[in-house]
Amino acid sequence: MKKDININSGISNGVKKRILSGMRPTGAMHLGHYFGALKNWAALQDTYETFYMVADWHAMTTLYDKNADMENIRSSTLEMVADWLACGIDPEKSCIFRQSDVPAHSELFLILSMVTPLGWLMRCPTYKEQLREIKNHDLSTFGFLGYPVLQAADILIYKADCVPIGVDQMPHLEITREIARRFNHFYGNVFPDPVGLLTKSPKLPGIDGRKMSKSYGNAINLEDSDEVISEKVSKMITDPARIHPSDKGHPEICAVYAYWSVVGGEKADEISSSCKNAGIGCVACKKDLSQALIKFLEPLKARREKMKLEKISEILASGKNAAARVAGRTLAEVKEALKI
Ligand code: TRP
Ligand code: SF4
Repeated sequence: MKKDININSGISNGVKKRILSGMRPTGAMHLGHYFGALKNWAALQDTYETFYMVADWHAMTTLYDKNADMENIRSSTLEMVADWLACGIDPEKSCIFRQSDVPAHSELFLILSMVTPLGWLMRCPTYKEQLREIKNHDLSTFGFLGYPVLQAADILIYKADCVPIGVDQMPHLEITREIARRFNHFYGNVFPDPVGLLTKSPKLPGIDGRKMSKSYGNAINLEDSDEVISEKVSKMITDPARIHPSDKGHPEICAVYAYWSVVGGEKADEISSSCKNAGIGCVACKKDLSQALIKFLEPLKARREKMKLEKISEILASGKNAAARVAGRTLAEVKEALKI
Protein backbone atom coordinates (compact mmCIF):
# COMPACT_ATOMS: atom_id res chain seq x y z
CA MET A 1 0.00 0.00 0.00
CA LYS A 2 1.19 3.53 -0.75
CA LYS A 3 2.46 5.63 2.13
CA ASP A 4 0.52 8.86 2.52
CA ILE A 5 3.35 10.93 3.80
CA ASN A 6 7.05 10.65 3.18
CA ILE A 7 7.88 9.38 6.61
CA ASN A 8 11.59 9.27 5.91
CA SER A 9 11.98 13.02 5.82
CA GLY A 10 11.79 13.16 9.61
CA ILE A 11 15.50 12.86 10.29
CA SER A 12 18.02 15.52 9.33
CA ASN A 13 21.66 15.38 10.46
CA GLY A 14 20.77 12.48 12.72
CA VAL A 15 18.31 14.62 14.69
CA LYS A 16 14.64 13.76 14.66
CA LYS A 17 12.31 16.54 13.66
CA ARG A 18 9.41 17.17 15.98
CA ILE A 19 5.76 16.63 15.22
CA LEU A 20 2.68 17.82 17.05
CA SER A 21 -0.85 16.96 16.13
CA GLY A 22 -4.13 16.85 17.95
CA MET A 23 -7.78 15.89 17.80
CA ARG A 24 -10.78 17.09 19.68
CA PRO A 25 -12.20 14.34 21.95
CA THR A 26 -15.24 13.13 20.03
CA GLY A 27 -15.34 9.66 21.63
CA ALA A 28 -15.08 6.46 19.66
CA MET A 29 -13.01 6.77 16.51
CA HIS A 30 -14.26 5.77 13.07
CA LEU A 31 -12.65 4.61 9.84
CA GLY A 32 -12.41 8.21 8.63
CA HIS A 33 -10.18 9.05 11.61
CA TYR A 34 -8.09 5.97 10.95
CA PHE A 35 -7.40 6.52 7.27
CA GLY A 36 -7.44 10.31 7.52
CA ALA A 37 -5.03 10.62 10.45
CA LEU A 38 -4.24 7.78 12.83
CA LYS A 39 -2.62 5.49 10.30
CA ASN A 40 -0.16 8.28 9.49
CA TRP A 41 0.33 9.23 13.11
CA ALA A 42 1.39 5.66 13.79
CA ALA A 43 3.70 5.53 10.77
CA LEU A 44 5.45 8.77 11.74
CA GLN A 45 6.45 7.62 15.23
CA ASP A 46 9.73 5.98 14.27
CA THR A 47 11.20 8.80 12.24
CA TYR A 48 9.94 11.83 14.15
CA GLU A 49 9.74 12.86 17.76
CA THR A 50 5.95 12.77 18.09
CA PHE A 51 3.53 14.61 20.37
CA TYR A 52 -0.13 13.62 20.07
CA MET A 53 -2.62 15.69 21.98
CA VAL A 54 -6.24 15.49 23.05
CA ALA A 55 -7.58 18.99 22.37
CA ASP A 56 -10.14 19.16 25.16
CA TRP A 57 -10.07 22.97 25.44
CA HIS A 58 -10.74 23.16 21.72
CA ALA A 59 -13.75 20.89 22.20
CA MET A 60 -15.00 23.37 24.77
CA THR A 61 -15.02 26.24 22.25
CA THR A 62 -18.21 24.79 20.76
CA LEU A 63 -19.48 22.50 23.54
CA TYR A 64 -19.40 24.81 26.53
CA ASP A 65 -23.10 25.53 26.94
CA LYS A 66 -24.64 22.13 27.66
CA ASN A 67 -23.92 20.12 30.78
CA ALA A 68 -24.17 16.83 28.96
CA ASP A 69 -21.63 17.92 26.34
CA MET A 70 -19.18 19.04 28.98
CA GLU A 71 -19.56 15.79 30.90
CA ASN A 72 -18.75 13.93 27.72
CA ILE A 73 -15.41 15.60 27.14
CA ARG A 74 -13.58 13.62 29.84
CA SER A 75 -15.03 10.22 29.00
CA SER A 76 -14.56 10.87 25.28
CA THR A 77 -10.92 11.65 25.96
CA LEU A 78 -10.34 8.24 27.52
CA GLU A 79 -12.25 6.42 24.79
CA MET A 80 -10.41 8.28 22.08
CA VAL A 81 -6.99 7.57 23.54
CA ALA A 82 -7.90 3.87 23.87
CA ASP A 83 -8.65 3.87 20.15
CA TRP A 84 -5.41 5.68 19.35
CA LEU A 85 -3.50 2.94 21.16
CA ALA A 86 -5.45 0.23 19.36
CA CYS A 87 -4.47 1.90 16.08
CA GLY A 88 -0.79 1.59 16.96
CA ILE A 89 -0.02 4.91 18.61
CA ASP A 90 2.61 3.73 21.05
CA PRO A 91 3.24 5.49 24.37
CA GLU A 92 6.82 4.18 24.30
CA LYS A 93 7.41 6.14 21.11
CA SER A 94 5.02 9.10 21.34
CA CYS A 95 4.10 11.60 23.99
CA ILE A 96 0.34 11.21 24.37
CA PHE A 97 -1.22 13.94 26.47
CA ARG A 98 -4.23 16.09 27.20
CA GLN A 99 -4.12 19.79 26.37
CA SER A 100 -5.73 20.92 29.65
CA ASP A 101 -3.05 19.01 31.60
CA VAL A 102 -0.37 21.38 30.32
CA PRO A 103 -1.32 24.90 31.41
CA ALA A 104 1.65 26.41 29.54
CA HIS A 105 -0.55 26.20 26.40
CA SER A 106 -2.95 28.69 27.92
CA GLU A 107 -0.20 31.08 28.93
CA LEU A 108 1.28 31.07 25.45
CA PHE A 109 -2.25 31.43 24.04
CA LEU A 110 -2.68 34.60 26.07
CA ILE A 111 0.65 36.02 24.94
CA LEU A 112 0.02 35.18 21.29
CA SER A 113 -3.43 36.74 21.48
CA MET A 114 -1.73 40.09 22.14
CA VAL A 115 -0.07 40.04 18.72
CA THR A 116 -2.85 38.46 16.67
CA PRO A 117 -4.84 40.93 14.56
CA LEU A 118 -8.60 40.38 14.78
CA GLY A 119 -8.89 40.45 11.00
CA TRP A 120 -6.86 37.23 10.64
CA LEU A 121 -9.34 35.43 12.89
CA MET A 122 -12.48 36.94 11.44
CA ARG A 123 -11.41 36.11 7.90
CA CYS A 124 -10.53 32.50 8.75
CA PRO A 125 -12.64 30.26 6.46
CA THR A 126 -13.28 27.60 9.14
CA TYR A 127 -14.56 30.31 11.49
CA LYS A 128 -17.00 31.67 8.92
CA GLU A 129 -18.14 28.20 7.89
CA GLN A 130 -18.78 27.01 11.45
CA LEU A 131 -20.68 30.16 12.35
CA ARG A 132 -22.93 29.41 9.39
CA GLU A 133 -23.25 25.63 9.98
CA ILE A 134 -23.46 25.22 13.76
CA LYS A 135 -26.83 26.47 14.92
CA ASN A 136 -27.32 24.65 18.24
CA HIS A 137 -24.60 26.53 20.16
CA ASP A 138 -24.05 30.25 20.54
CA LEU A 139 -20.66 30.76 18.92
CA SER A 140 -20.41 34.51 19.32
CA THR A 141 -17.70 34.11 21.94
CA PHE A 142 -14.15 35.32 22.36
CA GLY A 143 -12.95 31.70 22.83
CA PHE A 144 -14.44 30.48 19.59
CA LEU A 145 -12.96 33.36 17.61
CA GLY A 146 -9.63 32.59 19.26
CA TYR A 147 -9.67 28.88 18.29
CA PRO A 148 -6.75 29.25 15.83
CA VAL A 149 -4.67 31.20 18.38
CA LEU A 150 -5.01 28.31 20.84
CA GLN A 151 -4.03 25.91 18.07
CA ALA A 152 -1.00 28.11 17.30
CA ALA A 153 -0.02 27.91 20.98
CA ASP A 154 -0.35 24.09 20.86
CA ILE A 155 2.03 23.89 17.92
CA LEU A 156 4.50 26.62 18.86
CA ILE A 157 4.92 25.65 22.52
CA TYR A 158 6.63 22.45 21.26
CA LYS A 159 8.44 24.31 18.48
CA ALA A 160 7.01 21.65 16.20
CA ASP A 161 8.70 21.38 12.79
CA CYS A 162 5.82 19.52 11.19
CA VAL A 163 2.10 19.21 11.77
CA PRO A 164 0.25 16.28 10.18
CA ILE A 165 -3.24 17.53 9.34
CA GLY A 166 -6.05 17.23 6.83
CA VAL A 167 -6.68 20.01 4.31
CA ASP A 168 -9.53 21.37 6.43
CA GLN A 169 -6.96 22.41 9.05
CA MET A 170 -4.67 24.27 6.65
CA PRO A 171 -6.12 27.72 7.42
CA HIS A 172 -5.26 27.18 11.10
CA LEU A 173 -1.70 26.22 10.28
CA GLU A 174 -1.41 29.28 8.03
CA ILE A 175 -2.51 31.52 10.93
CA THR A 176 -0.01 29.71 13.20
CA ARG A 177 2.80 30.54 10.79
CA GLU A 178 1.74 34.16 10.55
CA ILE A 179 1.54 34.51 14.32
CA ALA A 180 4.99 32.91 14.69
CA ARG A 181 6.49 35.30 12.15
CA ARG A 182 4.90 38.31 13.78
CA PHE A 183 6.13 37.23 17.21
CA ASN A 184 9.66 36.66 15.89
CA HIS A 185 9.58 40.05 14.16
CA PHE A 186 8.60 41.87 17.37
CA TYR A 187 10.65 40.01 19.95
CA GLY A 188 13.39 38.03 18.22
CA ASN A 189 13.66 34.61 16.70
CA VAL A 190 11.98 32.11 19.03
CA PHE A 191 9.67 30.01 16.88
CA PRO A 192 10.45 27.84 13.85
CA ASP A 193 8.12 27.93 10.86
CA PRO A 194 6.00 24.78 11.13
CA VAL A 195 5.08 22.97 7.92
CA GLY A 196 1.98 20.89 7.29
CA LEU A 197 2.22 17.20 6.45
CA LEU A 198 -0.93 16.81 4.42
CA THR A 199 -2.71 13.49 4.53
CA LYS A 200 -3.01 12.59 0.89
CA SER A 201 -5.45 9.71 1.15
CA PRO A 202 -8.80 10.63 -0.40
CA LYS A 203 -11.57 11.30 2.10
CA LEU A 204 -13.41 8.14 2.99
CA PRO A 205 -17.13 8.85 2.52
CA GLY A 206 -19.72 7.91 5.13
CA ILE A 207 -22.24 5.20 4.27
CA ASP A 208 -24.55 7.86 2.78
CA GLY A 209 -21.80 9.22 0.52
CA ARG A 210 -21.31 12.46 2.50
CA LYS A 211 -18.20 13.20 4.56
CA MET A 212 -17.87 10.61 7.33
CA SER A 213 -18.85 12.22 10.60
CA LYS A 214 -20.25 11.14 13.93
CA SER A 215 -22.74 14.01 13.78
CA TYR A 216 -24.14 12.79 10.43
CA GLY A 217 -24.64 9.28 11.84
CA ASN A 218 -22.98 7.83 8.73
CA ALA A 219 -19.74 6.53 10.23
CA ILE A 220 -18.34 3.03 10.63
CA ASN A 221 -16.71 2.97 14.04
CA LEU A 222 -13.55 1.04 14.75
CA GLU A 223 -15.43 -0.84 17.47
CA ASP A 224 -18.59 -1.67 15.54
CA SER A 225 -19.56 -5.32 15.91
CA ASP A 226 -19.40 -7.59 12.86
CA GLU A 227 -23.22 -7.47 12.57
CA VAL A 228 -23.29 -3.68 12.68
CA ILE A 229 -20.56 -3.48 10.04
CA SER A 230 -22.50 -5.80 7.69
CA GLU A 231 -25.67 -3.85 8.25
CA LYS A 232 -24.03 -0.48 7.60
CA VAL A 233 -22.26 -1.74 4.48
CA SER A 234 -25.52 -3.16 3.13
CA LYS A 235 -27.02 0.34 3.34
CA MET A 236 -24.17 2.05 1.51
CA ILE A 237 -24.85 4.22 -1.50
CA THR A 238 -23.53 2.67 -4.72
CA ASP A 239 -23.30 3.84 -8.34
CA PRO A 240 -26.89 4.95 -9.13
CA ALA A 241 -26.45 3.86 -12.76
CA ARG A 242 -26.42 0.21 -11.70
CA ILE A 243 -30.10 -0.64 -11.57
CA HIS A 244 -29.79 -4.12 -13.11
CA PRO A 245 -26.90 -6.47 -12.45
CA SER A 246 -26.05 -6.26 -16.17
CA ASP A 247 -25.51 -2.45 -15.99
CA LYS A 248 -21.84 -1.52 -16.08
CA GLY A 249 -20.62 0.30 -12.95
CA HIS A 250 -18.40 3.26 -12.20
CA PRO A 251 -16.37 2.37 -9.10
CA GLU A 252 -14.79 5.82 -8.97
CA ILE A 253 -18.10 7.35 -7.85
CA CYS A 254 -19.18 4.48 -5.58
CA ALA A 255 -18.80 4.73 -1.79
CA VAL A 256 -18.36 0.96 -1.53
CA TYR A 257 -15.38 1.15 -3.85
CA ALA A 258 -13.82 3.99 -1.81
CA TYR A 259 -13.59 1.46 1.03
CA TRP A 260 -12.20 -1.24 -1.26
CA SER A 261 -9.45 1.12 -2.29
CA VAL A 262 -8.26 1.53 1.32
CA VAL A 263 -8.69 -1.99 2.69
CA GLY A 264 -8.70 -4.15 -0.44
CA GLY A 265 -5.04 -4.22 -1.40
CA GLU A 266 -4.77 -6.07 -4.73
CA LYS A 267 -8.39 -7.14 -4.54
CA ALA A 268 -9.40 -3.50 -5.15
CA ASP A 269 -8.25 -3.64 -8.79
CA GLU A 270 -10.11 -6.89 -9.30
CA ILE A 271 -13.33 -5.36 -7.93
CA SER A 272 -12.88 -2.29 -10.08
CA SER A 273 -12.68 -4.25 -13.32
CA SER A 274 -15.48 -6.65 -12.48
CA CYS A 275 -17.68 -3.69 -11.55
CA LYS A 276 -16.90 -1.95 -14.85
CA ASN A 277 -17.73 -5.15 -16.79
CA ALA A 278 -20.84 -5.89 -14.77
CA GLY A 279 -19.07 -9.06 -13.61
CA ILE A 280 -20.09 -8.55 -10.00
CA GLY A 281 -23.38 -7.27 -8.54
CA CYS A 282 -23.57 -4.65 -5.81
CA VAL A 283 -25.07 -7.05 -3.27
CA ALA A 284 -22.19 -9.50 -3.62
CA CYS A 285 -19.67 -6.68 -3.73
CA LYS A 286 -21.00 -5.35 -0.42
CA LYS A 287 -20.98 -8.78 1.21
CA ASP A 288 -17.33 -9.20 0.26
CA LEU A 289 -16.51 -5.74 1.53
CA SER A 290 -18.16 -6.43 4.90
CA GLN A 291 -15.94 -9.50 5.27
CA ALA A 292 -12.85 -7.51 4.30
CA LEU A 293 -13.67 -4.75 6.80
CA ILE A 294 -14.41 -7.23 9.58
CA LYS A 295 -11.08 -8.91 8.96
CA PHE A 296 -9.27 -5.58 8.80
CA LEU A 297 -10.72 -4.40 12.13
CA GLU A 298 -10.21 -7.69 13.95
CA PRO A 299 -6.69 -7.09 15.32
CA LEU A 300 -7.59 -3.54 16.21
CA LYS A 301 -10.62 -4.63 18.20
CA ALA A 302 -8.60 -7.31 19.94
CA ARG A 303 -6.07 -4.72 21.10
CA ARG A 304 -8.86 -2.35 22.15
CA GLU A 305 -10.56 -4.99 24.27
CA LYS A 306 -7.45 -5.54 26.34
CA MET A 307 -7.09 -1.85 27.10
CA LYS A 308 -7.79 -0.88 30.70
CA LEU A 309 -8.97 2.58 31.69
CA GLU A 310 -6.38 2.84 34.49
CA LYS A 311 -3.70 2.20 31.93
CA ILE A 312 -4.96 5.09 29.81
CA SER A 313 -4.91 7.41 32.82
CA GLU A 314 -1.31 6.37 33.53
CA ILE A 315 -0.30 7.05 29.95
CA LEU A 316 -1.88 10.50 30.09
CA ALA A 317 -0.14 11.23 33.39
CA SER A 318 3.31 10.44 32.05
CA GLY A 319 2.48 12.24 28.78
CA LYS A 320 1.60 15.28 30.84
CA ASN A 321 5.02 15.31 32.52
CA ALA A 322 6.96 14.86 29.31
CA ALA A 323 4.92 17.51 27.48
CA ALA A 324 5.10 19.98 30.37
CA ARG A 325 8.92 19.74 30.42
CA VAL A 326 9.24 20.75 26.78
CA ALA A 327 6.46 23.34 26.99
CA GLY A 328 8.01 24.89 30.11
CA ARG A 329 11.35 25.37 28.33
CA THR A 330 9.70 27.19 25.44
CA LEU A 331 7.65 29.35 27.74
CA ALA A 332 10.79 30.40 29.62
CA GLU A 333 12.38 31.41 26.31
CA VAL A 334 9.26 33.30 25.30
CA LYS A 335 9.27 35.27 28.55
CA GLU A 336 12.95 36.04 28.13
CA ALA A 337 12.24 37.38 24.64
CA LEU A 338 9.34 39.46 25.95
CA LYS A 339 11.44 40.77 28.85
CA ILE A 340 8.52 40.08 31.10
N1 TRP B 1 -8.26 21.83 15.34
C1 TRP B 1 -7.87 20.45 15.22
C2 TRP B 1 -9.05 19.64 14.69
O1 TRP B 1 -10.17 20.00 14.91
C3 TRP B 1 -7.40 19.86 16.52
C4 TRP B 1 -6.15 20.52 17.01
C5 TRP B 1 -6.02 21.30 18.12
C6 TRP B 1 -4.87 20.45 16.40
N2 TRP B 1 -4.74 21.72 18.24
C7 TRP B 1 -4.00 21.22 17.22
C8 TRP B 1 -4.37 19.82 15.25
C9 TRP B 1 -2.66 21.39 16.89
C10 TRP B 1 -3.03 19.98 14.93
C11 TRP B 1 -2.18 20.77 15.73
O2 TRP B 1 -8.84 18.61 14.10
FE1 SF4 C 1 -20.00 -0.12 -6.16
FE2 SF4 C 1 -19.31 -2.67 -5.99
FE3 SF4 C 1 -21.68 -1.95 -7.02
FE4 SF4 C 1 -19.45 -1.47 -8.34
S1 SF4 C 1 -20.25 -3.48 -7.83
S2 SF4 C 1 -21.15 -0.04 -8.05
S3 SF4 C 1 -18.01 -1.01 -6.69
S4 SF4 C 1 -21.02 -1.69 -4.93
